[in-house]
Amino acid sequence: MIHAVLYNGFEVPMLGIGTYSLGEEQIGNAIQCGYRLIDTAAQYENEDAVGTAIRKSGISRNDFCISTKLWIDDMKSNNTRNAFFESLKRLKLDYVDIYLIHWPAAGICEAWHEIEKLYNEGYIKAIGVSNFHKKHFDKLFKTCIIKPMVNQVELHPRFHNRELTDYCKEKGMAVEAWSPFGGTGRLLNNDILQQIAFKHQKTAAQITLRWHMQKGIITFPRSGNMDRLKSNMDIFNFELDEKDMGLIDSIDTHKCLGADPELIDV
Ligand SMILES: NC(=O)c1ccc[n+]([C@@H]2O[C@H](COP(=O)([O-])OP(=O)(O)OC[C@H]3O[C@@H](n4cnc5c(N)ncnc54)[C@H](OP(=O)(O)O)[C@@H]3O)[C@@H](O)[C@H]2O)c1
Repeated sequence: MIHAVLYNGFEVPMLGIGTYSLGEEQIGNAIQCGYRLIDTAAQYENEDAVGTAIRKSGISRNDFCISTKLWIDDMKSNNTRNAFFESLKRLKLDYVDIYLIHWPAAGICEAWHEIEKLYNEGYIKAIGVSNFHKKHFDKLFKTCIIKPMVNQVELHPRFHNRELTDYCKEKGMAVEAWSPFGGTGRLLNNDILQQIAFKHQKTAAQITLRWHMQKGIITFPRSGNMDRLKSNMDIFNFELDEKDMGLIDSIDTHKCLGADPELIDV
């Protein structure tokens, strides 16, 4: 597995499993297929299933990179520290690898200070945010002591999110892509992705994940299907050339499919 190195030296696998709506058995299958980066969130209500799947796998805790997120209700009600320890308990862990603020909302600066404390106390290996735009960072940067190491954002062949990605990289943050297949996998039917897939004798999903990797973007596709879990991991034995990358650039619609963080004021 290829790893990204965050600015604090922490290493994150470039490819993981997204767990939105997945249960213990499916997460266990992903672990059996070799996934070690697991993206969950308090809001997905499956941290308990993630923790159980890790325990049942018999694989050393240190081999995993477990990422979870603080939900906005806990941030707004100043409940960050408690919410973190509740996540830790459900996960059955004594530290998490990556902890993120899930969405910008009122209370980001106060929540971030609590997260900084937890990081300094050794409960978290790397800290970051999700769905933050420049205007949210402008506020956070006024009071933060430790800058976020990661921003997790919507990013796939139909929405490259280029301006935000460039901004994050300029500020030293790694970018993680959520919904690499656009949330449903429908974008994989795109003609250009299909043509490139035919050329490399790969699937459009593999082309998409390879594209993320070659752009230096960490990602974690979701699948509840064993064959697709396996094939989504098989992206390390080929390379997209400049022409392929340029063709995928031409698919960008510059429009997000999910909620637009720009509309959120903090
Ligand atoms: N921070 C945030 O606000 C945020 C927001 C959204 C998502 N996320 C994270 O990002 C993760 C991934 O995003 P996502 O869950 O929205 O969806 P996604 O990974 O973009 O797409 C998942 C869909 O693609 C299908 N799929 C998977 N592999 C495939 C393949 N090889 N060929 C064809 N179809 C395939 C899956 O169906 P099958 O299950 O049938 O294979 C599923 O319907 C989430 O699970 C979550 O961890 C974070």
